[in-house]
Amino acid sequence: MESMDTKEKVLRALKETDGYLSGEVLSRQLGISRAAVWKAISSLREMGCRIDSVTHRGYRLLGIPDLLTGEALLEGLEDTFVTRICAMKQVDSTNNEAKRQAQLGAPAGSLFVAEEQTGGKGRLGRQWSSPSGTGLWCSLLLRPKAVPEQVTGLTLLAGLAVARSIRALTGLNAQIKWPNDVVVEGRKLCGILTEMAAEMESVEYVVVGVGINVNTQSFPEEIAKKATSLLLETGKSWRRVQVLRQFLLETQALLGEWESQGTAALLPAYTADCVTIGRQVSTHRGGRFLTGKAEGITDTGELLVRLANGSLETINSGEVSVQGIYGE
Ligand code: BTN
Repeated sequence: MESMDTKEKVLRALKETDGYLSGEVLSRQLGISRAAVWKAISSLREMGCRIDSVTHRGYRLLGIPDLLTGEALLEGLEDTFVTRICAMKQVDSTNNEAKRQAQLGAPAGSLFVAEEQTGGKGRLGRQWSSPSGTGLWCSLLLRPKAVPEQVTGLTLLAGLAVARSIRALTGLNAQIKWPNDVVVEGRKLCGILTEMAAEMESVEYVVVGVGINVNTQSFPEEIAKKATSLLLETGKSWRRVQVLRQFLLETQALLGEWESQGTAALLPAYTADCVTIGRQVSTHRGGRFLTGKAEGITDTGELLVRLANGSLETINSGEVSVQGIYGE
């Protein structure tokens, strides 16, 4: 893990101090100028930290908001596969930022997280509404030794990791709608957008973008019946940093399995969590309307659908409606 920025160091020092900590001590302890201390305090306040200051005594931390800082995330995340955390106030899309940084050589395990996305992207060219502070908008950069066909496995892996995290933290019955929406009581809580750069035979990098509606109080009318948030499902607000940390822990465990045994190793757990399996599904393919019962997932992550004529079709992408989910 790379070193923390000044703001994070100041926050940590304040957290570790019961009373007041003077600017002078801070600057000496951290080896930075008084002006840098003052700047860090101002930006922490801007981020919502409540910091009291008293002449001749210094600064005292009164309260921390649900901040997505690297420092907050790392608490309780030992031996993590995350190599670098880039926490931003605002960005067009964390996936875009991850791709830009990947091209500049950012290492595997880099995590990009933002309070707000101004151009959040969904699957199939859709927009992903990402207002400030209410949700978890993040992207993980991976550089797996894999061929492009294996990358779908990472998408399934992320869906499974989110479903597990939500269940572990909140007790809600979070399930997966193939390939990677996470749903609660038939409404969408989380979407995942995986992008990659690859040659025919090898993957250069993969960006797994995860959007979780955490403290969203209401949704625009057009999605209100289909979308949900942790707040709406549980009646209370959640610390996004806790949700993200849990997601990273679950991801780490699953990544180990995926790297050593491949996508097939994840399928029993994935299938058990997948609401799509056993239901009637429909999709359009090459101008053809297909409908049938979802029977399983292949080793490369495709959906197996039994049509009325008895044949088994493999569906690998696109939009699949599932009876009983999102009011379908
Ligand atoms: C979908 O369900 O259509 C996928 C939504 C993915 C949204 C996340 S939010 C973080 C990351 N950055 C983006 O621009 N998109 C993904």
